[in-house]
Amino acid sequence: MTAISVAERGSVLEKIKAVVGPKGWTTDPHDIEPHLTEPRGLYRGATPIVVSPASTEEVAAVVRLCAAARQPIVPQGGNTGLVGAQVPWEDGGSIVLSLARMNRIRAIDPLNYTITVEAGIILADVQKAAEVVDRLFPLSLGAEGSCRIGGNLSTNAGGVAVLRYGNARDLALGLEVVLPDGQVWNGLRGLRKDNTGYDLKQLFIGGEGTLGIITAAVLKLFPRPREVETAFIALAKVEDVMEVFARARAASGDQLTAFELIPRIGVEMTTRHLHALTDPIAEKHPWYVLLEVSSSQTSGGLRTMLENFLAAQMEAGLVVDGVIAASAAQAAELWRIRDGMTEAQGYAASAAQAAELWRIRDGMTEAQGYEGGSIKHDVAVPVSRVADFIIEACEAVARAIPGIRPVPFGHVGDGNIHFNLSQPVGADRATYLARWEEMNRIVHDIVAARNGSISAEHGIGRMKVEELTHYKAKVELDLMRKIKTALDPNDIMNPGKVITIGPATSP
Ligand code: FAD
Ligand code: MLT
Ligand code: ZN
Repeated sequence: MTAISVAERGSVLEKIKAVVGPKGWTTDPHDIEPHLTEPRGLYRGATPIVVSPASTEEVAAVVRLCAAARQPIVPQGGNTGLVGAQVPWEDGGSIVLSLARMNRIRAIDPLNYTITVEAGIILADVQKAAEVVDRLFPLSLGAEGSCRIGGNLSTNAGGVAVLRYGNARDLALGLEVVLPDGQVWNGLRGLRKDNTGYDLKQLFIGGEGTLGIITAAVLKLFPRPREVETAFIALAKVEDVMEVFARARAASGDQLTAFELIPRIGVEMTTRHLHALTDPIAEKHPWYVLLEVSSSQTSGGLRTMLENFLAAQMEAGLVVDGVIAASAAQAAELWRIRDGMTEAQGYAASAAQAAELWRIRDGMTEAQGYEGGSIKHDVAVPVSRVADFIIEACEAVARAIPGIRPVPFGHVGDGNIHFNLSQPVGADRATYLARWEEMNRIVHDIVAARNGSISAEHGIGRMKVEELTHYKAKVELDLMRKIKTALDPNDIMNPGKVITIGPATSP
């Protein structure tokens, strides 16, 4: 992948160690291991060193050394990404630069409704810090206990509250970035309005570490909700889901925070594999929606609104059953079903579990593999096309692999469906996963026919580089390459991920 010689690499690594000091690097294979695999255990890379700078100045000094030596760098946050972007290539030519030690809150300004944090802070810690000053940081996803803000911004993470608050891009006011030549761009402005030329931060948000390293960010805060109501409702037909969504938006006066689809098979998988989780509704139904409404007022009207809404939809025959959480603890149990979807399908919730999945992939045991192989699609279609997409895609994949178990779930209020496909019961995991690209093509063609996206929120990483070139217009790909070449002409920032800029540097 890289033209750097062994001697040159040895020299640059020694200089990097000196910059970050003894606490800032490791070459111990045991310590490096968790940085080499990713949540599904699909990729396993190699690296000579994991470098963990403690400050922006240290990041910049490391990058300057790498730029001079043309040493590739893979930035890493919480290593929860689902497209392999944060994993080094197998050739061991890249260093991993972890932001984990840069986890401080630099400032919090409740009056400006902003918080300024370093890139390595864990998402849940930002949420907690906001709560301390009676504010809300609304970004919320299943991995929030381990993903880090730099990773969230670099993937433009979505999650379960996009409906109300937008995705990571909408939540960032300013960034501090170390550029591929080692310069520091301080764009840490906490302004709602700033039309002074190109909005440069947007290049790095969703850039998946290919254009620079985010070291800090100014994030938006919101009034903290005082009232939150959560319902788990059952539907007889997927065709009814988006009608219920449209009605919920109208009835709640834009207080709808989450609208998450869960198929029957999803409830079965989570209740089967997650500890002490039970089916919230006695009868079995084909589809469910986890719905949340919230308000920063304390008028007490939300519950009545939700009860009236559900009664009306039951009367209309759109909703067939449902429960409204009676307490915060019950609401958390309902959310556990939704948040457990990823793990129950056979993904890992931690690096340790990923290592276990890797062991399973190597054929040692299937016992811990939950539902076996899962072929993943993170797609978006216009909200009005969600149901017909699901129906057509389920039929198409069943024709290709009889017995395949589609698990379409997720953020349908944003038009984002995680169209995951679990292997047929009893199938061989490796043989099934070998059909990944074939299934991608079937599903993504159906998405493209609806003017949709092949990556709604997880990014491109290494997983979808080929798919991107297949589905994106040449003019867009050319623009992306021009931007990458302009900022990172030597292709040292996460090379080979998202977009490749030439055979000489492609892995
Ligand atoms: P990493 O995985 O470490 O890195 C991701 C990318 O960002 C890589 O390209 C990496 O090089 C780059 N990067 C990391 N830090 C920096 C930095 N400081 N500067 C520049 N580049 C950097 N995603 C969603 O969008 N919505 C969900 O609902 C969701 N739910 C999930 C649930 C589970 C259980 C799991 C395991 C994952 C889920 N994800 C979801 C995917 C993942 O959590 C997100 O993509 C998250 O934003 C990644 O953050 P991270 O810190 O783990 O980044
Ligand atoms: C989710 O919404 O749970 C995630 O994006 C993870 C997944 O797609 O499996
Ligand atoms: Zn998601």
